[in-house]
This record gives sequence, C-alpha cells and structure tokens, in this order.
Amino acid sequence: MALVSSLCGPILGIESSCDDTAAALLGPDGRIIAESVARQADHDAFGGVVPEIAARAHLAVLPALVARTMAEAGLNFSDLGAIAATTGPGLIGGLIVGSGYGKGVAIAYGKPFLAINHLEAHALTARLPSLGLGAEFPYLLLLVSGGHCQCIAVEGVGQHTRLGGTIDDAAGEAFDKVAKLLGLGWPGGPALEALAAQGNPTAYRFPRPLAGRVGCDFSFSGLKTAVATVIAAFPPGALPHGAAADIAASFQQAVADTIADRAAHAMAMFRELHPTGDLLVVAGGVAANATLRAALLAACDKARFRFAAPPLKYCTDNATMVAWAGLERLRAGASGADLDIAPRPRWPLAELTP
Ligand code: KG4
Ligand code: ZN
Repeated sequence: MALVSSLCGPILGIESSCDDTAAALLGPDGRIIAESVARQADHDAFGGVVPEIAARAHLAVLPALVARTMAEAGLNFSDLGAIAATTGPGLIGGLIVGSGYGKGVAIAYGKPFLAINHLEAHALTARLPSLGLGAEFPYLLLLVSGGHCQCIAVEGVGQHTRLGGTIDDAAGEAFDKVAKLLGLGWPGGPALEALAAQGNPTAYRFPRPLAGRVGCDFSFSGLKTAVATVIAAFPPGALPHGAAADIAASFQQAVADTIADRAAHAMAMFRELHPTGDLLVVAGGVAANATLRAALLAACDKARFRFAAPPLKYCTDNATMVAWAGLERLRAGASGADLDIAPRPRWPLAELTP
C-alpha cells in the first residue's frame, strides 16, 4: 500500500460512539504503534447501553486513555501528523466527547482533523495492512453488531452502496434480547453461544425471517417473539437447563441461517454491480459467533466468494479502524479540515463524499 506522503507523523484515532472508549496510534504507513480499548462495564446491570452513563464514562476515561496510549508510544501531541475521531453515527453524548476531544487537540496543536464515519471505519478495516487480508475495492461488507446490521458494497473511500439492512433489530440486539429472556447476562451474545453449545439446534424450528425474499434486508423481531412464546410456555422461573440450551442452540441456528441467506442474496446483488468482485468481509461483534461464521463460509463457497473476517478485536469497536479510516481519507485527498463537522447520531454512508 502506498505511503501517505502528506502525513508527517502518526495519526491518533479516537472511538467513542457506543460503549467502548478507544484510542490508537498508526504510523503514516498504517503500521499499528499503540492501541487501547476500555469497555464500559457500568451498563451490565441495566441489560443494555444507557446513553447518559456511556457519555459520562467516555468523559471520565478518554483523556487518561489517550495519555496512556501516547505514553506507550513515547509520543507527544506535537509529534502527531493528524487526529481522526468518530463523529457519527452513534450515541450523541459519546460522539460529542470523542470528537470534541479530538478537535481540541487538533486546534491546540495545529493538526489536521478528520471526522470519521463509524460505518466507514468498520468498512475499511479489511484494508488495514497489518491484518494481511489485502481487501481491494470493490468488496462486500456484512456488518453485524449490536447497533448495526447491513450489507454494503465498499467501492472506494467515501464510496459505498448500501445493499440492504435490518428493518427492526440489529443481529446483536436479537442475541442480547434472547439472552435476557433466557436469564443470561449482558452482552448476551457470548453467553448465549456458550449455552447453545450444550443444546440441540434442531430441537425447535424457529422462523428464518425474510429468508428467500428478494433483496438483502434483515428482520429479527419475529424470531425474538417466537423464542419468547416458547419460553413463556414454561412456568415462570422453571425453564430447565436442557430446554434453555436447546432454545439457545435453535435460535442461534435460525440467526445463522437467516444471515447466511441474506448474505447470499447480497453476494448476488454485489455481482450485478461488480461482476469481478469476489470478496465478502464480515465485521461487528456478532462476527465472533462460530455457527454464523460456518454458515457464511458455506454461503461464500456456494457463491464462489472468498470469505474474510478480521481478528475479533478489529471486528468490534476499536480506534485502530478510526485512525486507519483517517489515513485512507488523507490518501484519497482529504484535507483534514473537518473541524466544522458536528457530531451526527445518524450519518448514512450515502452521505459521505469520495
Ligand atoms: O461490534 P460490537 O462489539 O459493538 C457494537 O454493537 O457496536 O457488537 C456487540 C454485539 C453485542 O450485541 C453482542 O451480544 C454481540 O455483538 N456478540 C455476539 C457474540 N459476541 C458478541 N453475538 C453472538 N455470538 C457471539 N459470540
Ligand atoms: Zn461498531
């Protein structure tokens, strides 16, 4: 990958759009110099992210986290070449904290500032040199996290076509809600996967919402209701462990089958747009799920697509992807004069500029 000739120092990335506070430093060539993530545990008791708690936690944690990351790299702010911060979409409180902090450093030290779209950061991660995935444009991204569930044709920096997405819950949200019904902790995905390993995925035949339908939209609320109905048939507090494991396994299989079906449709749509494109990249916390990965791999084999999944720490929210998106934007000619871009809770990829 070409060097960023205009960048004369490392780039600092900041992520604070949900419940992870993260900072990372990349060299002008994309080499990872230092990275830190602080996951906020304060939400666990509430069974979901509480926006006000998240914002306050970002404020409490971010300055020290950045200082630690800079110290680890032996750098001062004056050594930086640029600063990139997630500016949307996401929870507005956290976005204000992270982008405001980044802008403050940029103004104080006279550095370029890049306002990064969180979805684009996920989308470009597969091009991070140290991951060795070598994703060249165009490729298909399946983003499955707690807040997002969509299929995107990644065609260039600032050039993305959204092929479809969820019409109700995100995939991770469905895992979290079903985990809650089963009395598991939050976030529910990992706990549900562990319980599912002890159960029979064919014990219950749950719906595969929208499977077979044209397009690649997703829906999970009907599936969640079907699971809730099965659980409600047991006396309150008397769901046997074996039944809970069977429900978890059957639900997980239904999600994996559904997402694989939707991804297969997305691959066909992508091929229409880009006949030579043959790479599916998965990102987001739900990409950790082994049953889902297996279903996606099978769908890719069938469609003659290659399948790439960044290591989990780069699938979930992190600041390395934010710094990398900043580098990609600079390489593509961005000026780094984004100080007047206000944080945006909603920021569709279609509104990015190449
Ligand atoms: O990408 P992420 O860390 O944060 C955002 O939502 O942006 O994704 C978190 C989501 C949660 O809903 C969590 O339950 C889900 O990813 N998740 C999983 C697994 N690990 C995390 N879902 C299913 N299986 C897993 N192993
Ligand atoms: Zn994310």
